Amino acid sequence: MGTVEDLKPIFSPKSIAVIGASRSPMKIGYEILQNILVQGYTGKVYPINPETPTIMGLKTQPSVLAVKDDIDLAIIAVPAEFVPKVMTECAKKKVKGVIVISSGFSETGEKGKLLEEEVLQIARKGGIRLIGPNTLGYKDPIDNLDAAFVFGMPRPGEIALISQSGALCIGMIYYANGEHIGLSRVISVGNKADVDDADLIDYLDNDPSTKVIAMYIEGIKDGKKFLDSARRCQKPIVAIKAGRTPAGSAAASTHTGSFSGSDAVYDSAFKQVHIQRAYDVIELFDFARALAYQPPTLSNKVGIISNGGGAGIMIADWCESIGLKVPNLSKKTVEALRPHLPSITTARNPLDVAGDARFYRYHATGSIMLSDPNVDALIMTCVHAGIARPREYVGAVIKLVEEKRNLKKPIVACWVGGPEVDEVVQELRVKNIPVYPSAMRAAKAVRCLYDEGRRLEILTKKRQPKDNSGN
Ligand code: COA
Repeated sequence: MGTVEDLKPIFSPKSIAVIGASRSPMKIGYEILQNILVQGYTGKVYPINPETPTIMGLKTQPSVLAVKDDIDLAIIAVPAEFVPKVMTECAKKKVKGVIVISSGFSETGEKGKLLEEEVLQIARKGGIRLIGPNTLGYKDPIDNLDAAFVFGMPRPGEIALISQSGALCIGMIYYANGEHIGLSRVISVGNKADVDDADLIDYLDNDPSTKVIAMYIEGIKDGKKFLDSARRCQKPIVAIKAGRTPAGSAAASTHTGSFSGSDAVYDSAFKQVHIQRAYDVIELFDFARALAYQPPTLSNKVGIISNGGGAGIMIADWCESIGLKVPNLSKKTVEALRPHLPSITTARNPLDVAGDARFYRYHATGSIMLSDPNVDALIMTCVHAGIARPREYVGAVIKLVEEKRNLKKPIVACWVGGPEVDEVVQELRVKNIPVYPSAMRAAKAVRCLYDEGRRLEILTKKRQPKDNSGN
């Protein structure tokens, strides 16, 4: 069985046992059972607890061995020292996959490492795939399964999130919810004793609900396996690699037992396999959102439209400083633009459509710019000047994105105006149009789409049969 098939019982289980399901609302074993039930999981659920006959109205069993039916997934939330015993029972029961929520393993030192190894060996001998230990579990907003503790689900969408940190994972979900960014699957990997990032990349590459894979990584144990998976992955991967500095690296070793390794090595390895590197959560989602909802850029040539000179200049600076070009427009484009511009404005790139621009001027100039063969991506900016019409700007961006899909040129929006106009801009987010509150973030998102274009170009070239004709 390959990894993808191996992991199906974990991610699409027909039955789940919660080992350590608790009567106490203050305990993690209570919350896991509650979350599974609240989301309306339709498979069979077996709470396992030797101390009580029922929990939340469900009959409990003293151990998985007492369950008559097959169990696809067991979620284990008993103290670390009892995990080998319940794992042995899972192996006897021929449970197919487990998630070990419990902490107290390799992240705590030598004794914990030995305990983790013992649990891993039981899993291997029993043919069980294991996520964790020291994990939050996973949340699946597409199939409505919350197999994690901590209440709350992500919005459904097309970005999968793999996180080595459980708490940060929850923070990222709430951030994404606030930004209207939808997620397909959210998986907390914990100490990665068995199932690791590479397995999950393979799994998610085959997942029809996922378009982009976003990752938070502290350390990778099997570098070759990881690079092989990333290299063959058809979908774009964006990753934060934390533990870059001596202080961060020391913290990672006690958090998830990770060896962070040399940052320069990670950097060059990521480049080799075209993983886009992000340096914080905001950047991770800036990139993932652009990759999920806009086409890759065919070249690095960017057109810029703004209603204020300063905003356009800053975007131009950012573009050029990160390897993008702000090219001159063709003669035809310049002529086509002129009738739409006030006399004070020059038809050039970046284009300042002036502070009084309304829907029609934004839309017409955007449409003309996108037709220019020198422009392969467009950044449309609005600054909150007194006479600016943010709603009309937003309307023009939405219309252009809808009308110009066939051109396969990305359109990214940029808004500088703070909370006062946030509600207006929210309409872009709801429609999955990438919108950023700064020149730097908008330009970096386009750079990310340019890198994705190059990744796809290289992949396509590799797939083309070699020309043996001597031509
Ligand atoms: N089989 C089934 N149930 C068992 C059991 C067994 N062998 N042994 C104990 N239980 C029951 C207990 O009776 C208890 O139920 P009750 O509350 O109804 O009495 C329940 O399982 C939980 O056991 P308890 O001993 O109370 O543990 P706990 O809830 O205090 O802690 C963990 C268990 C796993 C949550 C805790 O050890 C832990 O690791 N916490 C950190 C988890 C974490 O942060 N993970 C990483 C996130 S990123």
